[in-house]
Amino acid sequence: MILAELQNDRFLRALLKQPVDRTPIWMMRQAGRYLPEYRASRADAGDFMSLCKNADFACEVTMQPLRRFDLDAAILFSDILTIPDAMGLGLYFETGEGPKFEKVIRTEKDVAGLQKVNVASDLGYVTNAVSTISNELNGKVPLIGFSGSPWTLATYMVEGGSSKDFRHVKEMMYATPDVMHQLLDVLADSVIDYLNAQIDAGAQAVQIFDTWGGALSHDCYKEFSLAYMNKIVKGLKKEARGRKVPCIMFTKGAGQWLEVMAESGADALGLDWTTDIANARARIGDKVALQGNMDPSVLYASPARIRDEVAKILKSYGNGSGHVFNLGHGIHQFANPDHAKAFVDAVVELSPAYHK
Ligand code: CP3
Repeated sequence: MILAELQNDRFLRALLKQPVDRTPIWMMRQAGRYLPEYRASRADAGDFMSLCKNADFACEVTMQPLRRFDLDAAILFSDILTIPDAMGLGLYFETGEGPKFEKVIRTEKDVAGLQKVNVASDLGYVTNAVSTISNELNGKVPLIGFSGSPWTLATYMVEGGSSKDFRHVKEMMYATPDVMHQLLDVLADSVIDYLNAQIDAGAQAVQIFDTWGGALSHDCYKEFSLAYMNKIVKGLKKEARGRKVPCIMFTKGAGQWLEVMAESGADALGLDWTTDIANARARIGDKVALQGNMDPSVLYASPARIRDEVAKILKSYGNGSGHVFNLGHGIHQFANPDHAKAFVDAVVELSPAYHK
């Protein structure tokens, strides 16, 4: 796939700690229900998975936030749960209840029955969406591909959906660690193929979402989450179309593990809002770039208050490249799009001072 020359590469440059004119910004979950035009597209498509499976719809909703805001990256419209769905678990969404699976993975036999996902035959709709979006972007900004981390995917597969206490997946982890490792291993191999296929189709950076790594104990995080993300990072294509493809590792709640994460080979670490970004930068030094980390709930406050918070985070990171501004987690569905605009504008206006 040949891509048009990039007109705005400050996101890729910041991930590699190369000089930029201002701090780049995108928002986790930037395409979604807080936008009325997203809700209209979803109504047209019928349901969420139809939106993901139709490349034209996926492309349209990817572009929606870029039309409203001065963002420096687009993110593929899809979901992390496409992998378990492609493994035969039957993903569906019940209104107001989040994702669910028809089949759950609980036993050694269940795990033994799983095979590495076949990206070409079962996830072609995702790589199709990537190439459709790349064409549409036409070099405007880079496109981010993504996947869930093996641990985070496993939580959904074993629990059968979202969970508060992770009862079943933690039982598997503590009572039958070998079975847990087998599941995580097949997921890691699947994620490697999946992300490499997204890179081949046009993704210019990738992010691994480890939403639930922070639910693990200190030792278990390293053994059951980080180890498999490390395996993925090692298996990823490092370059495509003559350019580096940076990898961002985001574990929510990982403030205490940044030093070990920085050894993973990832180019950047995503931070949630519970970590002080100045402290994070001091701890990881020059090893990796940082992405984050405004509390998404700040968007419920006034534009003036949002601007103050942006100023505080920019000042806290300080001078120089290596910072990609973002929220510390996905934008809430009740966020006001005008406040999201105030957030992005504040980064655009206030950040050049830190790149002189
Ligand atoms: O704009 C983007 O960032 C791209 C799209 C994207 C979606 N999901 C679309 C989506 C991305 C990057 C994801 C990742 C994702 N999905 C994660 C990791 C990031 C995170 O937020 O922690 C997780 C844990 C999921 C699993 C998932 N998908 C849940 C828990 C839910 C339901 C609850 C919710 O937050 O909406 C989904 C559905 C989903 N994925 C929606 C969207 C826009 C809402 C579906 C709808 O239209 O009703």
